[in-house]
Amino acid sequence: MESVSDSSVRAFYDALAPDYHRMFVDWDAGMARQAAVFDDLIGGRLGAGPHRILDCACGIGTQAIGLARVGHQVVGSDLSAVAVARAVAEAAARGAALPAVAADMRRLPFGPSGFDVVLCADNALPHLLTGQDVEAALREMRRVLREDGLLVLTVRDYDEARRTRPAATPPQVSQTAAGKVITFQLWQWHEDGEHYDLEHFQLVPAADGWDVRVRRTPYWALTRRQVTDLADAAGFTDLTWHASALSGYYQPVLTARPVGRARR
Ligand SMILES: C[S@@+](CC[C@H](N)C(=O)[O-])C[C@H]1O[C@@H](n2cnc3c(N)ncnc32)[C@H](O)[C@@H]1O
Repeated sequence: MESVSDSSVRAFYDALAPDYHRMFVDWDAGMARQAAVFDDLIGGRLGAGPHRILDCACGIGTQAIGLARVGHQVVGSDLSAVAVARAVAEAAARGAALPAVAADMRRLPFGPSGFDVVLCADNALPHLLTGQDVEAALREMRRVLREDGLLVLTVRDYDEARRTRPAATPPQVSQTAAGKVITFQLWQWHEDGEHYDLEHFQLVPAADGWDVRVRRTPYWALTRRQVTDLADAAGFTDLTWHASALSGYYQPVLTARPVGRARR
């Protein structure tokens, strides 16, 4: 059954999809950089490939398109049908194949063991607000992974955020053909100290100044310990966190293998 927060997350990303690339100074360069990081991480564990990769929170395709362009067979899925449609179109515009479908990561529309890698990147998992939902999603990722496959998951550094309780993120400025676009977030923490409501601001140049676009969605600031415990409960082992300084990705990256089949 769909809850209010599912539809609010979907509405948030449906609305953001046309503007999502504006959060990057240069989205194409960002895609290439991220693909290089994940290709390296995957290759180091599974060999060079090409691999069958499911990006289960593909959004507009930031990781999926880049990985398809370096030769992997990538399938995308995401809660937002608008983002998925854009991912497919952006891939085609770059000569890459990206079959993709709108789907909730807690109910993946794929058979068992069909993928070498499941990727869930850029803080998608913390949109799920309870341990039950996060574990359900991780169980689905495990189900669709081949026996000795690899989970690659990235989550914001919430260990740090839970200590410092930031109220905002610094503004990011990207240059577009129409002028500078400014993006920042305001965070309203809940009393439990773990959840917060995010307001996402984008200031886009307009004829008479700025067009201010504001979108809202809740998050669960999951610590690495919490993610590790939930992944363990969902049937993953060999749980390894890769710090940004070593992986080259801007968030901590977790790699894990299905239980009973761990291999490095
Ligand atoms: C911060 S965006 C990252 C998207 C993409 N990985 C990227 O970096 O461009 C988070 C994504 O998670 C997706 N998402 C949130 N909850 C989801 C769920 N329950 N199932 C599938 N996707 C979900 C959103 O629709 C959104 O596209």
